[in-house]
Amino acid sequence: MALFTVDKALCNGDGICAAECPMMIIQMEGGAPTPARGAEKMCIGCGHCVAVCPKGAISLATLSPDACLEVSETFSLSSEAAEHFLRSRRSIRNYKAEPVERKFLEEAIRVASHAPSGHNFQPVRWQVIYDTSKVKELCGHVIDWMKWMIKEMPEAAKKLHLDLVVAGWNFGMDTINRGAPHLVLVNGDKRNPTTQAACTIAMSYFELMVPTLGLGACWNGFFNAAAIHWGPLQKALGLEENMGNFGAMMVGHPKYRYHRMPARNTPKVNWVG
Ligand SMILES: Cc1cc2nc3c(=O)[nH]c(=O)nc-3n(C[C@H](O)[C@H](O)[C@H](O)COP(=O)(O)O)c2cc1C
Repeated sequence: MALFTVDKALCNGDGICAAECPMMIIQMEGGAPTPARGAEKMCIGCGHCVAVCPKGAISLATLSPDACLEVSETFSLSSEAAEHFLRSRRSIRNYKAEPVERKFLEEAIRVASHAPSGHNFQPVRWQVIYDTSKVKELCGHVIDWMKWMIKEMPEAAKKLHLDLVVAGWNFGMDTINRGAPHLVLVNGDKRNPTTQAACTIAMSYFELMVPTLGLGACWNGFFNAAAIHWGPLQKALGLEENMGNFGAMMVGHPKYRYHRMPARNTPKVNWVG
């Protein structure tokens, strides 16, 4: 099957698809887009050719213009609204006990899966630990890892205040998942050099999306660290060979509302030229 087809009645030969193709595998021949030699093997399936054509004239074998959501010409986010949206995001550490309806987590993941990934590999594999008792059980493994750290790597453990985290847990406080009912993980193939960045960006999209659904979230760095280093946790997560965890996020209904956006350091920027 041809990599793409062109509706000649619609195509105006403007060459925008060829100019925008990141792999430069579209040639203009006789005024019409044509796949370059070996294009099938090189195409990364990003869909830019389909998305950028003002006439909707080009269809990939795997993606037609009709299957794409239209970019609205009237909707626009002002920089003021964007700043408010980005700066009002907060790490949430107090949650209501009530579970989140699965459809909201699905929605946030669906949107987050549109985050960029190197070579459009889309290596992120989502894992939702929905069952709160399972979350607790997995966090128990994180505490075991911390106890091991305190014993075997006391200097590193001290820097991370792991003694306090373990003491709080022993006292009955959820110092790992902060009482959030769910835990969302981004996993991926450890051999793929693009996995870490893709997982981090996808999880950042997820974190930004959840407040729009009335939810709150916070990165769970302790969980991620334990998932990287602690065999029993990896086993409990059921990660297949070569798969690793690249990020963890607690999520639930926030107990409190934030009213102000705290200041951050002035960015340190080195302008060159
Ligand atoms: C990679 C990463 C790991 C984090 N791990 C934790 C964590 O384990 N527990 C926690 O309570 N907060 C964690 N945080 C949240 C940070 O403490 C938080 O982003 C920071 O204090 C700034 O607050 P803000 O996110 O509300 O702006 C983590 C943040 C990042 C980016």
